Amino acid sequence: MRHFLSTADWSAQQLDELLNLASRLKQEPLQEQLRGKSIALMFMNPSLRTRTSFELGMHQLGGHAIVLQPGKDAWGVEFKTGTVMDGDAEEHIAEVAGVLSRYCDLIALRAFPLFKDWSTDRDDAVIRSLAKHASVPVVNMETIVHPCQELALMLTLKERFGEVRKKKFVLSWTWHPRPLNTAVANSALLIASKFGMDVTLLCPEEAYRLDPQFESAAMGYAAASGGSYYMTHNIDEAYAGADVVYAKSWGALPFYGKPDQEWELRKNYRHFMVDEDKMSKTDNALFSHCLPLRRNVKATDAVMDADYCVALDEAENRLHVQKAVMMNLLGKKL
Ligand code: CP
Repeated sequence: MRHFLSTADWSAQQLDELLNLASRLKQEPLQEQLRGKSIALMFMNPSLRTRTSFELGMHQLGGHAIVLQPGKDAWGVEFKTGTVMDGDAEEHIAEVAGVLSRYCDLIALRAFPLFKDWSTDRDDAVIRSLAKHASVPVVNMETIVHPCQELALMLTLKERFGEVRKKKFVLSWTWHPRPLNTAVANSALLIASKFGMDVTLLCPEEAYRLDPQFESAAMGYAAASGGSYYMTHNIDEAYAGADVVYAKSWGALPFYGKPDQEWELRKNYRHFMVDEDKMSKTDNALFSHCLPLRRNVKATDAVMDADYCVALDEAENRLHVQKAVMMNLLGKKL
């Protein structure tokens, strides 16, 4: 049985097939392939885009989506194996997965890491535990990676460029007042390198390097796809000649779970915010961000309102790519 937990489990060709299906669904949104099918959407964290696009996407394919918010409108869930459940959680992921597998054809989960211990969070054990206990395909709606966002980003770039190979893709750390999840940054590296782009990671200092499992994967994908991988702390060098600037803020992993200590680094890097001056150093680059985005904190109004900003296209494409993922996992073709 196939899951969609990370694009690392899918080849570039398989991902391309998903993107082609998504493009066709974008042209003909209303279909009947998933009539009678259902998906359970479990949200441990807030969402605007993911919830709306999955619910609407399943409806547009003729199926039904059920939203569950454990700890709020569903029982709290324990994800660890072998634990004595004398905390807040009322039931174990083994039963949650088993029950939802009896009712639904797909299960999707958003479970951000706990921001306590990266040495355990980096294993992505929560979604892997769900997949282990489920007897239907599982979809990742963001954990330490955000594979649906990856597909939406790549569909947006392919729509604009046609061929993305050898385009300069800059993943830029940007300012935010507190440390955020690394998921979208990890994912941006994975997908851009897998599709042969010349990837530059721009981050303020070594503490903001991404987990080696993702930087190493990106280097390997770049080598296999004819792309390249480069890391710099120099803003001018990164922006020079860029075809795409993709901004994201994330927390410094050596200070994971210690936001007060991390602030002593972070407070020095407000100038990483994306603005018109930086964008003027590029090769007429596109700008994008996964959203939500704090204006004039992560990127200026001028950048967000510019013709080169494709963040809304990327958000729209979440709908189309997720429909393709659901159809693929259920063995349906257009
Ligand atoms: N980009 C994204 O996943 O948006 P939401 O958090 O609103 O779902």
